[in-house]
Amino acid sequence: MSNPLAHTLKPSSLLGFSISKQLQFKRSINNSTVYTRSNSRRRISHYPSLMASLPGAPTTEKDAVSIQNGSTQIEPRPLQVAKRLENFKTTIFTQMSMLAIKHGAINLGQGFPNFDGPEFVKEAAIQAIKDGKNQYARGYGVAEFNDAVAARFRKDTGLVVDPEKEVTVTTGCTEAIAATMLGLINPGDEVIVFAPFYDSYQATLSMAGAKIRSITLRPPDFAVPIDQFRSIISKNTRAVLINTPHNPTGKMFSREELSIIASLCIENDVLVFTDEVYDKLAFEMDHISMASLPGMYERTVTMNSLGKTFSLTGWKIGWAIAPPHLTWGVRQAHSFLTFATSTPMQWAAAVALRAPDSYFEELKRDYLAKKAILVEGLHAVGFKVFPSSGTYFVVVDHTPFGFENDIAFCEHLIKEVGVVAIPTSVFYLNPEDGKNLVRFTFCKDEETLRSAVERMKEKLKRK
Ligand SMILES: Cc1ncc(COP(=O)(O)O)c(C=O)c1O
Repeated sequence: MSNPLAHTLKPSSLLGFSISKQLQFKRSINNSTVYTRSNSRRRISHYPSLMASLPGAPTTEKDAVSIQNGSTQIEPRPLQVAKRLENFKTTIFTQMSMLAIKHGAINLGQGFPNFDGPEFVKEAAIQAIKDGKNQYARGYGVAEFNDAVAARFRKDTGLVVDPEKEVTVTTGCTEAIAATMLGLINPGDEVIVFAPFYDSYQATLSMAGAKIRSITLRPPDFAVPIDQFRSIISKNTRAVLINTPHNPTGKMFSREELSIIASLCIENDVLVFTDEVYDKLAFEMDHISMASLPGMYERTVTMNSLGKTFSLTGWKIGWAIAPPHLTWGVRQAHSFLTFATSTPMQWAAAVALRAPDSYFEELKRDYLAKKAILVEGLHAVGFKVFPSSGTYFVVVDHTPFGFENDIAFCEHLIKEVGVVAIPTSVFYLNPEDGKNLVRFTFCKDEETLRSAVERMKEKLKRK
């Protein structure tokens, strides 16, 4: 009997590449199919995210029916997931970080620093815990932190916002994004995004039932194709989602681009949701907040978080700033997503945001040195490196090395070279658009960056 699930394990299925090989089929007596994980003593629940990348693969501990002869047998039950999420796979970052561990590869994939956040912020968190600031926070944020967010926004943009009515504290920028989409987008609303885009945008827009209109930013400069934007935006557009500095390309939206987007949004009565989590990692030009452009504050939700600026990505402290009429929707969604965010961490985050200018200057200086090591190294290895103005990412063209696409290249890079990069095709509605590009991060200590470059110089050969 042909196996109805066999197609789910093709090595070519997206990033099932090295995962699929861990799974083999075994037929049981009554003709039902059983997956086997050979030589594994670990419980299947250790792999839920990788398993979830295979449509139809079982994921729960309940599915592990027996452990016999050193192998775990799992009944193939169809995964259950609502339609709004059925097209999404395990995030690429989780998959790549797990593969990095498996192959002992240097992880220049997922954007988390391999160094710690500043002592003064960690001390503030410890103090807050010791001071008993440990119960539920006010839903929209600890007052001191809302104040600190408003003060920082004023310092950065010149805009004066009411911390009580216009700042909502969220669990990372990820929740700010979700709360904004779910709180302000109706099913069927058109939302314009610029590809490549951070992966949570598509998933949360899907949860909100939005109709996504994607505009691709292309190398070498990833400039906004203004004519295309003009032809897509209309009275049917509910919102435009921008991200500057931009993950994965490092592009920063210029004042000219933002001004044209702004005037078309005003003309068509469109909202702007702007993700500015890398605003303090702006190297080649000054960061410009869309909200600060004339006429834009009243139609903009500005989203940000502590993670990148303070090398504390695990804290997941974020916020959304918007005028009261938009904050209402964001807060309604936030109330029922998480209700409130970690109390002691908000107290510490308030201390962080009030850091002296010298902290931010030093952060930039450190990152500029790291960026130089990686960019020079990537050039020396033989990549075509695209200019990155902000973020801690740089995108390269991998085609000099002769691989069919970004996934094949990244697989080779992990297994044969021992370095992890992120294939960018997952950041596009049309994956073909990203098949020549991969992303490296330089949020690692200098020695790690140098070792990764050395590995690539030694083992990566141009074809
Ligand atoms: C563009 C962008 N937005 C949002 C996030 C998520 O931020 P947070 O960790 O604060 O949820 C990331 C994290 O990598 C990101 O790159």
